[in-house]
Amino acid sequence: MKRRDFLKQSAFALAGLAMLSLGCGSDKTAKADAPQPEVKQSTNEGASQAMNNNGKKILVAYFSWSGNTKAVAEEIHKQVGGDIVEIVPATPYSENYSVTVAKAKTEQEAGARPAISTKIADFEQYDTIYLGYPNWWGSMPMPVATFIDTYKMSGKKVAPFFTHGGGGVQRCMSDLEARAQGANVTDYLCLSGSSAKNSQGEITSWVKKTQN
Ligand SMILES: Cc1cc2nc3c(=O)[nH]c(=O)nc-3n(C[C@H](O)[C@H](O)[C@H](O)COP(=O)(O)O)c2cc1C
Repeated sequence: MKRRDFLKQSAFALAGLAMLSLGCGSDKTAKADAPQPEVKQSTNEGASQAMNNNGKKILVAYFSWSGNTKAVAEEIHKQVGGDIVEIVPATPYSENYSVTVAKAKTEQEAGARPAISTKIADFEQYDTIYLGYPNWWGSMPMPVATFIDTYKMSGKKVAPFFTHGGGGVQRCMSDLEARAQGANVTDYLCLSGSSAKNSQGEITSWVKKTQN
């Protein structure tokens, strides 16, 4: 597809998505005051047990601007155990949807790598990374590219999950596979942002497949 056609298609999709995204972004909090991201240990006894059963160390890492992907990440964490961390840009995106859409487009076109404040001690210890983000302009938000460049996925199992506003997976999966060189990337889970908070069944089925 020519770039201009892609942009037209994306702009078309986004016009419709604005309503959806705003609708499912009600739990968005003021990022400017957000605490530094930290890796949280699992407190879920059952899940921790499950993690011990197959002997794998798990990290759930996610980026979320308006809360949909965060909700999916938290449900996955509840089910698989391990640790969870948010990928947080050092400079927060605006609370304003149009401003963020425009900035995301500029960053993607420039191949930017915005700094992130997320720090993970001993990333090497993890065998499996559940990595989630929203579809932004058909692909990953650029802070996620920074995360992948910083924390090498080679040799790890990477289980990708996405939320979208109507466009589906688009290049979210192919761009991840291209960037996470040497990783064993599982099938992805892609959920509509508007159903992200009510998808436990779908998440459970996918989680089972990632554990094979
Ligand atoms: C900057 C930006 C770009 C987006 N681009 C797309 C897109 O290209 N295709 C799509 O289906 N949804 C797009 N969306 C909608 C989000 O993917 C969707 O609302 C997602 O569930 C938001 O996840 P979050 O709440 O975790 O941030 C975009 C949203 C934003 C803010």
